[in-house]
Amino acid sequence: MLKRILMVLLVLSFIGVGLGVSLAADGKGNSRKGKYLYRKNCRTCHVENGKAKELSPVSKTQAQWKTTFADPKKLPCAGEWAKLSDKDLTDIYAYLWGHAKDSPSPAKCK
Ligand code: HEC
Repeated sequence: MLKRILMVLLVLSFIGVGLGVSLAADGKGNSRKGKYLYRKNCRTCHVENGKAKELSPVSKTQAQWKTTFADPKKLPCAGEWAKLSDKDLTDIYAYLWGHAKDSPSPAKCK
């Protein structure tokens, strides 16, 4: 019985750590740099009348950006993402997430 309680506590503490890490990631990147990187690497296609549909931070909610960045391999442009470093993607995420539709400072990329 004691063993089982200990197992449950162990599992709960893992979940706690995981949650802390993923929440910290939201504010970790450099949003200013992310904006620059987004324009340089993503806007090339994601503009009006571009190769892909127009995308701005306000195109999605924070939760939607989070889901997108949790599994970008599903996207048709996953190959473009793969060219960027994790650090650059973290910065782009900080920009998109930080100015999402439901964020305190929604922004459109012009
Ligand atoms: C070579 C052109 C190209 C580049 C560069 C590119 N994409 Fe895409 N992307 C596409 C195409 C094509 C699609 C699928 C069609 C669409 O959604 O317009 C797509 C789809 C997406 C989607 C899914 C659409 C949605 O509404 O959820 C997201 C998000 C996305 N791209 C983000 C990015 C980000 C972030 C970058 C920069 C790291 C990037 N893309 C770079 C071509 C590109």
